[in-house]
Amino acid sequence: MPGVHATMPLFRNDTVAAPVAVGDTTTDQRPTTEALRLHARASEAATAGITVSDCRLPDLPLVYANPAFLRMTGYTLGEVVGRNCRFLQGGDTAQPGLATLRAALRAGQDCAVLLRNHRKDGTPFWNELTMAPVRDEAGVLTHYIGIQTEVTARVEAEAALHRANAELERRVAARTAALTAANAALVAAQYETLDRLARAAEARDDDTGQHTVRVGATSALLARELGWPVAEAERLGRAAVLHDVGKIGIPDGVLLKPGRLDAAELAVMRAHTTAGAAILAGSTQDVLRLAEEVALTHHERWDGGGYPRGLAGAAISLAGRVVAVADVFDALTHARPYKAAWPVADAVAEIARQTGRQFDPAVVAAFLALHGRAPAPDAS
Ligand SMILES: Cc1cc2nc3c(=O)[nH]c(=O)nc-3n(C[C@H](O)[C@H](O)[C@H](O)COP(=O)(O)O)c2cc1C
Repeated sequence: MPGVHATMPLFRNDTVAAPVAVGDTTTDQRPTTEALRLHARASEAATAGITVSDCRLPDLPLVYANPAFLRMTGYTLGEVVGRNCRFLQGGDTAQPGLATLRAALRAGQDCAVLLRNHRKDGTPFWNELTMAPVRDEAGVLTHYIGIQTEVTARVEAEAALHRANAELERRVAARTAALTAANAALVAAQYETLDRLARAAEARDDDTGQHTVRVGATSALLARELGWPVAEAERLGRAAVLHDVGKIGIPDGVLLKPGRLDAAELAVMRAHTTAGAAILAGSTQDVLRLAEEVALTHHERWDGGGYPRGLAGAAISLAGRVVAVADVFDALTHARPYKAAWPVADAVAEIARQTGRQFDPAVVAAFLALHGRAPAPDAS
């Protein structure tokens, strides 16, 4: 019967869509001779290794290995049958895949692991091993089937990629660190130049140059108290040291005059704001642009009565409003040719009195809060 022959099952009780031989009601699960022949041929032709280990014999020995397994390992059938497969590990019994494999063996389950093995000639290779348990009709574990695929090329390519990535990351980190250090050095050099420029301007009426340094420090503290981010507060502190840079062009007769200035002299003196802004104008550097703003506006008053432009309230740059308070506080608490140093408490009271008049009330509030918490910097 050709039709029946075409749909004959390989195992006697396999269910198939087409009718099987009439009257065949056997429950026998043993493969037919043809099935054995086909499975044997499939195993022989497979490109992956196929092995069978017998669980009923001591130490799980190999009882079958296909040609692909023998080609992969370099052993003959006679050399492997009867041995446990661990001989392929070359003594490397601590590799992570083995822990998974042992747990699967204990539980009678299947598993897939990556193992480092060695061929007969000693060369190492990577073996992707899939293991599956085989049970008899009663459910008793009799064998384990192993399917071995060599994946050396893939594992080595992955390792090379990993090494290349790690090297790349290392180089990027080193380059970033070098750039960060170079940038920090550049910023430090820039700030030092600003300090020295400020000192040059200040040298004629304050040979210690400490007024500019103190005004810078107080301005940065005030900015922090007003909620500015650290970097911006620090930048204001750096810019504030240049608030009087315009004094560099004021004649000694006016700058160093111990008595009161007449109207003409006062006008010359006040021009230090616009002269300072002119020195600093046109920079591409944030800190210098801020310094220009501060030089121009630190003598403006909140009530509009200041100079050089008579701006009022929020029309005055906030940086200028902050430095105005720091500048006056420092001037009051230090001796000048025409006046003695005020006690700190008196100077604080004067700043408070000027809230909403000379100074921005918000900046005065920050100043008082700061002063209440800690002594003003170097107000001795
Ligand atoms: C069917 C089967 C195939 C195996 N194939 C390999 C193999 O190709 N390479 C290998 O290193 N281990 C293989 N093993 C694992 C070892 O034979 C052994 O089970 C493993 O090293 C854990 O046992 P141990 O702790 O006694 O060494 C296989 C195990 C079984 C059951």
